[in-house]
Amino acid sequence: MQPVLSLHQITRSFPGVKALAGVNLELFPGEVHSLMGENGAGKSTLMRVIGGVLPPDSGTMRLRGQAYRPHSPRDSKAAGIAFIQQELTLVPELSVAENLLLGRMPHRLGWLNRPEMRRRAQKALDFLEIELPLDEPSRTLNVGQGQMLEIARALQDRADVLIMDEPTAALSQKEAEHLFSAIRRLRAQGSAIIYISHRMEEVYELSDRLSVLRDGATTGTWKMSEITPQQVVAQMVGREMEETVDSQRAEPGPVVLEVSGLTRAPLVQDVSFQVRAGEVVGLAGLVGAGRTEIARIIAGADPCQSGVVLLDGQELETGSPARAIARGVGLVPEDRKHQGLVLGMSVQDNVSFAVLSQLARLGWLKGQACQQLADRYIQELRIRTPSREQGVGTLSGGNQQKVVMGKWLARDCRLLILDEPTRGVDVGAKAEIYRLIEDQVAAGKAVLLISSELPELLRLSSRVLVISAGKVVAEYARVEATPEKILASALAGLA
Ligand SMILES: Nc1ncnc2c1ncn2[C@@H]1O[C@H](COP(=O)(O)OP(=O)(O)OP(=O)(O)O)[C@@H](O)[C@H]1O
Ligand SMILES: [Mg+2]
Repeated sequence: MQPVLSLHQITRSFPGVKALAGVNLELFPGEVHSLMGENGAGKSTLMRVIGGVLPPDSGTMRLRGQAYRPHSPRDSKAAGIAFIQQELTLVPELSVAENLLLGRMPHRLGWLNRPEMRRRAQKALDFLEIELPLDEPSRTLNVGQGQMLEIARALQDRADVLIMDEPTAALSQKEAEHLFSAIRRLRAQGSAIIYISHRMEEVYELSDRLSVLRDGATTGTWKMSEITPQQVVAQMVGREMEETVDSQRAEPGPVVLEVSGLTRAPLVQDVSFQVRAGEVVGLAGLVGAGRTEIARIIAGADPCQSGVVLLDGQELETGSPARAIARGVGLVPEDRKHQGLVLGMSVQDNVSFAVLSQLARLGWLKGQACQQLADRYIQELRIRTPSREQGVGTLSGGNQQKVVMGKWLARDCRLLILDEPTRGVDVGAKAEIYRLIEDQVAAGKAVLLISSELPELLRLSSRVLVISAGKVVAEYARVEATPEKILASALAGLA
């Protein structure tokens, strides 16, 4: 069989970075071909080259046997390539239906044909078996819904090649399953799918073949049956990774956070719990269960209707992020692009942003202290950047997430709230982030953790609270928590 798309020795550089250093890849019709690699390995850059967003510096591409040289995303689309980017590209003020049909609005005699638009939009959502409010502006959607909308938009055209760059990073288990069944249908129709993900389980579940990218070059391509997950990791990092051992935790100390009767209807209903010093309390639940809302109220980002938050025994007035920060509450938010980072600023400025008041005490040493801090986290989290002066907006997705983590780890917090802290982060950096969280806990900090990845939640949490429809419906100690019990509680809470 002839490959539908083949890449030969593709290179591409940015100032100070050789992002692609000679990529070879062959893609066949009807295959799901996964692409794995560390954060900054060049995966998204390669997809932008295929998608016509970036021209390569050198190398050739062939599509259905013909030379393929796209000059814009429009060219790649016309050639039958659909592309779901890593970062959302929705227009927040437009409705769900308008976003779905952006650039392909049905017109009749110059008038926008609204019924036709709604019909086509509904069809696109039906293909993914999801429901979204067609007439609401897309800014009202949560991150997972936004991602599903983005995917539905790309799947409308029958494409020979479909590129998906970390499509599940923001999806719930259920949404991800809808996506997987859509991918299987597309594969059965003969589409070739390039699938990028940091989640090993889903790569094995979904793919026919796998290629690994390291430092901008492909290290090889395998059938899934030919390679073990350990070997994949070794290919990605270029060495064997040692297994990290679960650290033993000391007995927890005094209560740091006490929440009682927290309510913000309809998302948060009468929520009460405590987090002690030296303890990680994990919040489990389906996406939309209200976990992020609970975190945001405690961090002062949203007001609450009733309820009390005590920090170290003293009331923390809600509704003001500044007040929460002053009392030592740190929030690593779920939506890094909008809430966690100033994209135009450098790595150093982003990392030291949260500690400026603490560093100011050092007077003239401030500049140097900021530099040391930035260098320390660049090294500890292995943030791939040419220098600490680099604008955060140019870093790869996973490396941006590491900067958000560094920013809050650098600050001395009493309570650290982590909402999906390892989203989009590669396996090596995940282990580093786990280690840094353990350090914080050993130093007596309290941690509230939200994660959709159950293995992560079970590994880090001292206790797990299951949230369903805005309520705490179950609590498990670390030793008794299992994925089955948690899921059963979450579903029972909906009944
Ligand atoms: N516009 C740009 N300007 C400067 N450097 C860039 C730009 N785009 C990408 N890079 C750099 O190219 C390298 C590869 O980035 P890329 O986004 O392709 O990584 P990735 O493999 O997709 O990583 P992740 O898993 O974190 O998404 C990184 O070092 C990144 O900082
Ligand atoms: Mg990427």
